[in-house]
Amino acid sequence: MPGTAVKFREKTDFVDSVICDDALSALSLIRSGIVDAIVTSPPYYGQRDYSYPNQIGSEATAEAYLERLLEVFKECMRVLKETGTLWLNLGDKYADGRLLGLPWRLALALQANGWILRSDVIWWKPNAMPSSVKNRLTCDHEYLFFLTKNNAYYFDGDAIREPHVTFSEHSRMMGGRNHFGKRGGTPEKGKNCGNQNLHRARWDQAFHPKGRNKRTVWEVPLSKFPDAHFAVFPEKLIEPCILAGSPDGGLVLDPFIGSGTTALVALRLRRHFIGIDCSKRYCEMAENRIREQSLVLPFSASPDL
Ligand SMILES: C[S@@+](CC[C@H](N)C(=O)[O-])C[C@H]1O[C@@H](n2cnc3c(N)ncnc32)[C@H](O)[C@@H]1O
Repeated sequence: MPGTAVKFREKTDFVDSVICDDALSALSLIRSGIVDAIVTSPPYYGQRDYSYPNQIGSEATAEAYLERLLEVFKECMRVLKETGTLWLNLGDKYADGRLLGLPWRLALALQANGWILRSDVIWWKPNAMPSSVKNRLTCDHEYLFFLTKNNAYYFDGDAIREPHVTFSEHSRMMGGRNHFGKRGGTPEKGKNCGNQNLHRARWDQAFHPKGRNKRTVWEVPLSKFPDAHFAVFPEKLIEPCILAGSPDGGLVLDPFIGSGTTALVALRLRRHFIGIDCSKRYCEMAENRIREQSLVLPFSASPDL
């Protein structure tokens, strides 16, 4: 229930803290199997200088960059619960006019390392910056991969359903809703009880009371946070990941937390967090934002953050 406090997890294992260190070293401090969901956007390749000697993204080759990320995600798998989920956003990069294909190269390498790829989400950015390129298309999307450690995992699809479109009450399709059952009943009870036509997929598509199952193209405008010198997560992008990928009161980890967006959204959705970032400046920024938000939330981070 929104607004009511849930029982607070004991403050151990860096819960509700930001660890200011290299992701790999910081992850090694976290106990195995305690995290419900990992939501993260690693540094993009060759994009930014975070003024940290061991920063990821400034490797000499794309291969070396991917290797480093794979090491980090190996540790992520260790700290994730068996039922845990990973939501990974990564942008691509051009080198000499060639698209490197880094998001998919990473996703396939993660598969080879034992992760199970469940969905590739296209994050469509309607307000993406125009570009001056004349010999190719202007890119206005990024990938968000949904991966798990096992076949049995936490997923609350009902929490993120979206409005029905095709078979709404006002549908003008030939035959309309008659193909999809009678009003006032479900395949389990009422007028449609036992209707073999209404297998689950069809029922969900047509009338699930909470809406249709969420689709894989998400329209989310870029958000601005002027203090950060990189693209911060839009809160709307990661809300569905946290809602569907972790239980109420669960623990969400971001090993590249930057300005702290994952922690803010986790707390607002009544989850705990662990953040990691190598940049002292961004750790402080994240902590300040978390502290400010904690003052106004009924479900908040520990006061001695
Ligand atoms: C794309 S930004 C993350 C932005 C974040 N999602 C937000 O909403 O603000 C990537 C972050 O990774 C951090 N980073 C770079 N190399 C790192 C490393 N080796 N260990 C931990 N963090 C690192 C950078 O300091 C930066 O804050």
